[in-house]
Amino acid sequence: MTLLDLSKSLHNCDRCKLAKLGRTHVVFGVGNPHASVMFVGEAPGFNEDQKGEPFVGAAGKLLNDLLASAGLSRDEIYIANVIKCRPPNNRDPEPDEVETCKPFLLQQIQMIRPKLVCTLGNWATQTLLERKVGISKVKAQAFYMKDFVIFPLLHPAAALHQGNLLDTLKEDFKKLKEFLDRNTKLAEPTSAAPAPAPTLQIEPPQPAQMDLFG
Ligand code: URA
Repeated sequence: MTLLDLSKSLHNCDRCKLAKLGRTHVVFGVGNPHASVMFVGEAPGFNEDQKGEPFVGAAGKLLNDLLASAGLSRDEIYIANVIKCRPPNNRDPEPDEVETCKPFLLQQIQMIRPKLVCTLGNWATQTLLERKVGISKVKAQAFYMKDFVIFPLLHPAAALHQGNLLDTLKEDFKKLKEFLDRNTKLAEPTSAAPAPAPTLQIEPPQPAQMDLFG
């Protein structure tokens, strides 16, 4: 199955109650299907539900600026949400909705095979880390999973609601840029061929040197 097949299979999804609670579009995800960096938000809001695309409202505009500050563009990344349908009045997702939709997010990740997954806010972070941990404890740090690295960040909407978080979010995107820069390798130039694009190659951290004496 391809990413497109998966997206088509969810087009009229009615696996959970959100299908009957005023959803307009299933918001599957957008971006580069071969992205090495993926962003995962919580759930579509009003504008996303109308347009069928994640992060197109106010939080999306802020996200675009933050991405640019980290040297990323929306064309090169992939963006999806934990749940693909808008909860009524933007309420928090309910556990059965996350349980129903999570397998599709995992399938997206498996198909895209990003090296880095930036989770935006508590929902995405806890869903992918599979730990009930507050975002402020884990944000802007790399968590090395089996197949990719998770880099949690505050949700841009949180900074829109609480202006004092905006500087923190900007700082954290600076840390993301530093992480990307540290892990991006320039390919060896070869003869007459055009220079290959730099690639993200994340090495797991070295295990602490073993203590031979104990
Ligand atoms: N917030 C999210 O978590 N996702 C969106 O797509 C838009 C706002």
